[in-house]
Amino acid sequence: SPPAIIAPSILSADFAELGAECSNTIARGANWLHIDIMDGHFVPNITFGAPVVTKIRSHVAKPSEKHGNGTFDCHMMIAEPKKWVKEFQKAGCDLYCFHYEAAISSTAAESPESTSELKTNPKDMIKYIHECGMLAGIAIKPDTSVDVLWDILENTNEVEKPDMVLVMTVHPGFGGQKFMASELPKVAELRKRYPELNIEVDGGLGPGTIDQAADAGANVIVAGSAVFGANDPAEVIAKLREAVEK
Ligand code: DX5
Ligand code: ZN
Repeated sequence: SPPAIIAPSILSADFAELGAECSNTIARGANWLHIDIMDGHFVPNITFGAPVVTKIRSHVAKPSEKHGNGTFDCHMMIAEPKKWVKEFQKAGCDLYCFHYEAAISSTAAESPESTSELKTNPKDMIKYIHECGMLAGIAIKPDTSVDVLWDILENTNEVEKPDMVLVMTVHPGFGGQKFMASELPKVAELRKRYPELNIEVDGGLGPGTIDQAADAGANVIVAGSAVFGANDPAEVIAKLREAVEK
């Protein structure tokens, strides 16, 4: 598998101290920051938008290399993922991870651009994200079969290839939910076919669930409540890394 990447989700950070929470998390050994963007439509919750990402970017140095430390991994739980690509790039996002479900059902009706496009082809989304200068991730919810990804991962040219696949291990919308081990066969199948792919898991991960996820082949580990709710976040980050590297 590719190297272990620990990506704490700032959804469980103290939003009133967000700048310090972000810089401290990197100083405590995290690689990336996982930034959950929710619009109240794709998921039944609202978080924040690009202006907040702009502000926290000034507290965390841009990564010096592709996938490097300080990468802003923006998990776009939004109904119109294509509409916000440029804005998030400008805000300092490094990896734009959209949901497959949103891309294929997005009507583009609200979008000022691309009104002729009724559905967004995931490959076109990936290409567009790359053209806008970011890494591209594609996420699937628990109810979505991993089989939808094969066509996207196979036979694609470089620019249409995702840099990461996110397998959700909870129904997206809230932090602190119970880990769904039922999603791990998706991870195992992806790892079997793609030994070098970055595979991210998100939801319910912590010291008690990391071994199962690591055994299945996940290498990018999101953890919100387990990191920000801990007395010693650095220790939790180290434990997660150890489990993936062993
Ligand atoms: C859930 C979000 C997650 C969330 C994870 O919709 O996508 O990133 O912050 O939180 P924990 O780790 O507490 O389950
Ligand atoms: Zn997330």
